[in-house]
Amino acid sequence: MVGSVLMQRMRACGDFAGLEPTFFSTSAAGSRGPTVDGHSFELQDAHDLEALEALPVLVSCQGSVYTKAVHDKLRARGWSGYFIDAASALRMRDDSVLILDPVNREVIDRGLDRGLKTFCGANCTVSLMLMALQGLFRAGHVEWLSSMTYQAASGGGARHMRELIAQMAAIAGDARDLLDDPATSALALDARVSESLASGEFPTEAFGVPLAASLIPWIDADLGDGQSREEWKSHAEGNKILGSADEVPIDGVCVRVGAMRCHAQAFTIKLRQEVPLDEVRDLIAGANDWVRLIENEREASIANLSPAAVGGSLEVPVGRVRAMRMGPQYLSAFSVGDQLLWGAAEPLRRMLQILRER
Ligand code: HSE
Repeated sequence: MVGSVLMQRMRACGDFAGLEPTFFSTSAAGSRGPTVDGHSFELQDAHDLEALEALPVLVSCQGSVYTKAVHDKLRARGWSGYFIDAASALRMRDDSVLILDPVNREVIDRGLDRGLKTFCGANCTVSLMLMALQGLFRAGHVEWLSSMTYQAASGGGARHMRELIAQMAAIAGDARDLLDDPATSALALDARVSESLASGEFPTEAFGVPLAASLIPWIDADLGDGQSREEWKSHAEGNKILGSADEVPIDGVCVRVGAMRCHAQAFTIKLRQEVPLDEVRDLIAGANDWVRLIENEREASIANLSPAAVGGSLEVPVGRVRAMRMGPQYLSAFSVGDQLLWGAAEPLRRMLQILRER
């Protein structure tokens, strides 16, 4: 899915002009691949190391299993090309750089100057958090940050998106007769929905449990210390993206909700010192070309700060910004972003452009 969104973005931005691409597949080598500018490409075998090492830049949206299967073998064979990867496998290596150029272009340039060749897109939630709050981090105002997430089905993959809709369809199908009768009480409807969720027929192969009409308070692996791997990434990857000597503690609880492709996050931010709210708002709004400050009032918030409003867009709206009851150094904020764009495909596309410009 990330590969498909990457292709959409590259076509839309005219990135293929002047490129000589080769398209690979792990499962469909020999079949017809994408068409670019009227030219149809045949898919090559993504495990053919000789074909891969003939190329100066590889962009992989395949996942960590594939990255682990080919990356080190290519390097061991002496391949010194650039590997741009959406997967998490290489993210925390010392010789890799996490890419989110509106936020860390200097870190990327330093990596290139040092001769590093492996550039990884970061976790989607982390990238969207830093796009949203870049202004506060850059000003050095953040002492610590807590992010409570509301993550979309797409983070699990295409199968999970389908299953969310299948779950919704199952609920609606089971409740149809009650829904069609205006005299049905909400409690009767609720009882029917509960029956659907608990029935052995309910589709849960991908998520393991119901997501529709429910939520899932754990994302990714259990690290065994009470933290999920998704939560661990916020501090580890967030600080690696920022590349600063002093780590900022970042932690929270990551939760899957029934949105399709936009992750939302509620932030609690402890500032190092009190900063006037107008200055906070200006810092957030002026940080990059995609962040958009939303007035902290009801109508603007419900119209602009939802997955329904943001899906398919590169904009990263940030709202609900106010000082909290705990004291003037404690800020709340809420942000939504398309996890397939800034959270996945866009940093890869832009890294390829950075390489071409150098
Ligand atoms: N791990 C994320 C999620 C997706 O499950 O939502 C991509 O980083």
